[in-house]
Amino acid sequence: MSVKILAIETSCDETSAAVVEDGLLVRSNIISSQVDFHKKFGGVVPEVASRKHLELINRVIAEALEKAGLRFADLDAVGVTYGPGLAGALLVGVAAAKAISFALNIPLVAVNHLEGHIYANFLAAPALCFPLVCLIVSGGHTDLVVISRHGSYRLVGSTRDDAAGEAFDKIARVLDLGYPGGPAIEQLSAYGDEEAIHFPRAYLEEGTFDFSFSGLKTAVINYLRQAKERQVALDKADVAASFQKAVLDVLVEKTFQAAKKYKASAVLLAGGVAANARLRELFQAGAERQMLPVVYPPPVLCTDNAAMIGCAAYYKYMRGDFAPFTLNASPGLKLGEEQY
Ligand code: KG4
Ligand code: ZN
Repeated sequence: MSVKILAIETSCDETSAAVVEDGLLVRSNIISSQVDFHKKFGGVVPEVASRKHLELINRVIAEALEKAGLRFADLDAVGVTYGPGLAGALLVGVAAAKAISFALNIPLVAVNHLEGHIYANFLAAPALCFPLVCLIVSGGHTDLVVISRHGSYRLVGSTRDDAAGEAFDKIARVLDLGYPGGPAIEQLSAYGDEEAIHFPRAYLEEGTFDFSFSGLKTAVINYLRQAKERQVALDKADVAASFQKAVLDVLVEKTFQAAKKYKASAVLLAGGVAANARLRELFQAGAERQMLPVVYPPPVLCTDNAAMIGCAAYYKYMRGDFAPFTLNASPGLKLGEEQY
């Protein structure tokens, strides 16, 4: 008998529900993006996000079941993101999952959003061997994680200031490219020369796997200001491409150093920034140099989606790791920590 899990993800600005069978087969993955509502504000407005989740959640769940060709009665468990993320946004998903779990009398599985991003890789390559090193690069996180077995995470490095995705979003804003910035910078970079401007790369102290992007951000802003003051013609595509390369070089270098140190059998990429094609290319090149397999999910499973939550929920379900009905949203939840 297969295990069919309905998964719900509402941590930020995507309302998503999916049905995942045996942690492997994505029978449906409905993602309703609110990005157009937030665009006019230049970023996600938490109150708007919660209201939109409320409007969309039931429809998205119904659509996920319909697309999977299933009824509520066919489900074995319900998995939900309970943190980290926006409190009001998370609460909508958590309340829906608790109601479904109670009404159907099926287990409730609470999933850390970052764990979900990591597990998108197990949808792409289910037979991965441990230990693994995963680079999580999203709007809120830049983390290097060593995974020694299912559910066991050791954070070996993280950003000391901006997350990689946040840096993309901020630089896109100063270049007037709109929100979200990552895809806009990637698209414009295709027309630019990534060697045109040498922006600084923060490798920090010898041996650390931490990151810092605030110096790079300041360097780009100063470059733009000076170009304006000197009335020099500005090639935005060169700026975008050179900025992107400066971020990606550090991400790739540190990830492969960590993979070597922790004797990883493969390197994983996770989070919204992992959708970046240039990052994937540079990872592939690094993997060939170090003769180490590299895995990354298809772009739709890199950005926020419920299928990745369904995959992570499956492994927790198999361990009997169920959440009580007192489960609450945990906006500041850390990887490897449970708050239920
Ligand atoms: O994982 P995600 O969808 O949401 C969070 O959990 O934060 O990541 C969103 C972040 C945003 O900062 C967005 O600009 C960035 O991922 N992003 C990208 C790309 N697509 C999304 N950054 C660079 N290149 C992309 N193609
Ligand atoms: Zn995310």
